[in-house]
Amino acid sequence: MEPVRLNKYLSQQGIASRREADRLIQGGLVKVNGKTIQEMGVKIDPEKDKVEVDHFQMKSKKNYVTIALNKPKGYVCSMKKTKLDPNIVTDLVDLPERIYPVGRLDKETTGLLLLTNDGTLVNQIIHPSSESEKEYEVTFNTPIPMGAIKKLESGVKLNGEKTLPTRVKKTGPAKIRIILKEGKNRQVRRICQKVGFPVKSLKRIRIKSLKLGSLKQGEWRQLSEEEIGELKG
Ligand code: URA
Repeated sequence: MEPVRLNKYLSQQGIASRREADRLIQGGLVKVNGKTIQEMGVKIDPEKDKVEVDHFQMKSKKNYVTIALNKPKGYVCSMKKTKLDPNIVTDLVDLPERIYPVGRLDKETTGLLLLTNDGTLVNQIIHPSSESEKEYEVTFNTPIPMGAIKKLESGVKLNGEKTLPTRVKKTGPAKIRIILKEGKNRQVRRICQKVGFPVKSLKRIRIKSLKLGSLKQGEWRQLSEEEIGELKG
């Protein structure tokens, strides 16, 4: 963001006219990053610098929030309720910031969903070029043979287009873990159906380095700076 003169910034924030802002500054009432600024003409970066007037911090820095939610069944990743889908994922999160789901999980899918107001994070995760790994736990109604697993691993044709190869681990007779690097609509359900094994239940357990861990369905937690850094990396 462009640096802006401190008096202009204060007037843009509705604190004072520019002339009054100059008086506040000269009077020693304005601090930038904890240091009192009394000289005129100092520029600040509204995104990075912390400005306080008479001890009240201004809302200069955008408050980025990113949370991990364990999405329960029956909730949709939409910002708008409809008659058909009155349960939306943001209803589960009580925060003052307006946050949005990063990508989608189907209504019937459970597990790890990120919600954020940080646009750069969204791009890093859902842009196809990011090839972010997403891992799912899939259960079937009947045992799945190795032949079907091999087909899933080598990629499956959907609407004439082959999906990328996947990594699959068999974790039970009717249970697998599958890692995708792309996010076509209802991809796991469609590729499993295509190889003859409709999905009984689907849960996302990881996005890049972030694991669902011990969050229970409907629970959420705020991510640490470190976790967000890893997701952006
Ligand atoms: N693949 C699906 O089929 N559904 C999801 O919710 C996510 C991936």
